[in-house]
Formats: sequence, C-alpha cells, structure tokens
Amino acid sequence: MTLTIAIDGPAASGKGTLARKLAAHYHLAHLDTGLTYRAVAKALLDASQPLDDEDLAVSAAKGIRLETLDRAALATHEIGEAASRVAVLPAVRLALVEKQRDFARQPQGAILDGRDIGTVVLPDAPVKLYVTATPQVRAQRRFDEILARGGAVVYDDILADIRTRDARDMARSDSPLKPAQDAYLLDTSEMTIEAAFAAARAVIDIAIHDCKQD
Ligand code: C5P
Repeated sequence: MTLTIAIDGPAASGKGTLARKLAAHYHLAHLDTGLTYRAVAKALLDASQPLDDEDLAVSAAKGIRLETLDRAALATHEIGEAASRVAVLPAVRLALVEKQRDFARQPQGAILDGRDIGTVVLPDAPVKLYVTATPQVRAQRRFDEILARGGAVVYDDILADIRTRDARDMARSDSPLKPAQDAYLLDTSEMTIEAAFAAARAVIDIAIHDCKQD
C-alpha cells in the first residue's frame, strides 16, 4: 500500500517535528520542502546574488539535489527569511515542485511538509494535515528553543518575524499558505508534541483503514 501524507502549516507550527515523528512511525521517506527553498536562498546568498532575480534563482533551484540538503547548514534565521523571498517567484516554485513530486513517487509513499503540499504539490494525497498554532505560541516555542541552545534573543523580535513571514507566505499570489479544503486542521496551541502526534496518528490510521476497505 502506498501512503502519501501532505503536511502544511506556518513557520514554527511544529509541523516539521511532527512530520519526522510520523515518518519514523510509519517507516516513510520524508522531505522537508522548506529546505529546498532554503537551499536556493543559500546558494544566492553565498554567491552575493540578488534574491529577486528569477533567472538566477531558477538556475539555483534546478541545481538543488535533494540527497545533499543539509538541515543544519540551512537552519539560520537569515536563510529562512531569504527563502520566503525566493519562494514568491513562480518559476522557482515550478522547478522545486517538480523535484518534490519526484521524491513523493516512492513505492511505499512519503511524507512531505511545507506550505503548499496539500494544495499544489500533492493535491491527491489521501492524508492532508494543516498544523497551526497562534503566533504567540509559535514565537514562544522558537524563543525557548533558541534559549535552550544558549542563544540570546528578544521574544518580541521573534513574534514580529513570525508575523512578517506569515504575511508573506499567506499573501503571495502563487501557492499561498492555506489549508487544502480536505485537510485535517490540527491547532497545536494548547497541545504537547505527543498529543499532536497522537491526533495525527488517529487521522492517518483511519485513512489507512479506509484504503484497505476499498
Ligand atoms: O519551513 P521553512 O521555514 O523551512 O520554509 C522557509 C520558507 O520557504 C517559507 O517561509 C516559505 O516562504 C517557503 N516555503 C514555501 N513552500 C514550501 C515550503 C517552504 O513557499 N512548500
């Protein structure tokens, strides 16, 4: 049986952690599609190239190899911010979506997480989750993570960044962040990661059961 799971949601919603836990639980390959946009942004930043030159960004996108995406090297705030700028360019999205769809075509299925997986990349996925939380809760989680790593940061700055990123991701004309019509909405504002994991598993197990009945 092939199990394809699409997970979307805003920055710091916990969708990445959830996707990794689900991938381990269901033994599925996982792609964090945010890394593909981050890799394009990093390539441009490293080469001191502008982020709004579509031709340059498309060549960077075509050169991305999914096998070599390095999460740690792409994790900085600056790269995340730059990623959301290159993500507004339709030709960049086209090039990356093609690679993401190729990845999803695995015999067992796959889990992809991002902003447009359920709406654009895999509209036929049998399971779609939209993971969200209030901007304040997301800012607090990110603040706690940075403090735990020994970093220094101001909560209000993080909240402002989250709001800016949400606005850019939700307002762009190509593939804006929004739940697919048939997505299961998971608001984790008052949930632990374990509770979110259990809720997601319940949704997925029902989908698996329904597939087996067909
Ligand atoms: O999820 P992450 O913070 O790594 O994503 C970085 C940026 O990449 C997002 O803010 C968004 O603009 C863009 N992105 C996207 N579509 C995806 C995944 C990420 O536009 N499927």
